[in-house]
Amino acid sequence: MLIAGNWKLNCNINEAIDLSSSILNNLNSKVLRSEVALFPPTIYIETVYNVIKNSNIALGAQDCSVNISGAYTGDVSAPMLNDFGCKFSIVGHSERRNGKNESNKDVYLKAKNLMDFKMIPIICVGENAEDRERGNALDVIKKQLEESIPKSNNEFIIAYEPIWAIGSGKIPTLDSINEMFNMIRQWLTNNSMKNNIKILYGGSVNKGNAKELFSCKDLGGLLIGGVSLNPTEFSEICIIAS
Ligand code: PGA
Repeated sequence: MLIAGNWKLNCNINEAIDLSSSILNNLNSKVLRSEVALFPPTIYIETVYNVIKNSNIALGAQDCSVNISGAYTGDVSAPMLNDFGCKFSIVGHSERRNGKNESNKDVYLKAKNLMDFKMIPIICVGENAEDRERGNALDVIKKQLEESIPKSNNEFIIAYEPIWAIGSGKIPTLDSINEMFNMIRQWLTNNSMKNNIKILYGGSVNKGNAKELFSCKDLGGLLIGGVSLNPTEFSEICIIAS
């Protein structure tokens, strides 16, 4: 199980230190069976690295460039993230697919770059409310899988995050999460991918619904946004996961 905290565009430098230190203090003495990873804003990756470097908390980035180097002002590439101790990077989050017009092809290239530099992409997929209401959710996700995931033997993680569940306080029924996970698992098998690839759920996860989510059969972990900024609640979820 992986419990991932996506801080998005939040925190100043002191808050980044406080948040990572609090999580570290809460979890340090615990024997955790789940892996915990923090995803601060890129500029604070080194700051957080310095807090958690001697612990078993891992570090990840929220995004990476489709390019490796060159004239791409403002971009941060996979090898640069690797230099700063990132084990993971999220790619294809809906806030980038929709807000920054990122295509499946962009997500594919980012995931491939991360794999090439021995990092683990967390490839996000998710349907919008209209797709869900029209009964198209499975088809929409299947297309995102087909076009965003490099067919490779390298390690990667899929995060299923229905767009309508992100930050809304709503989560899908367990039946619909299980149905989606079954389809994703089948797709992985049909494409001869490893059977230990984790599938995470993300969208309005909190301490209250985490227990219920952990009963999903194929759940490989959680991608947590808002609640990852609350060190007590986030740490409690990490402990429940173990
Ligand atoms: P949320 O965000 O937990 O605040 O809904 C999840 C995400 O966007 O990864």
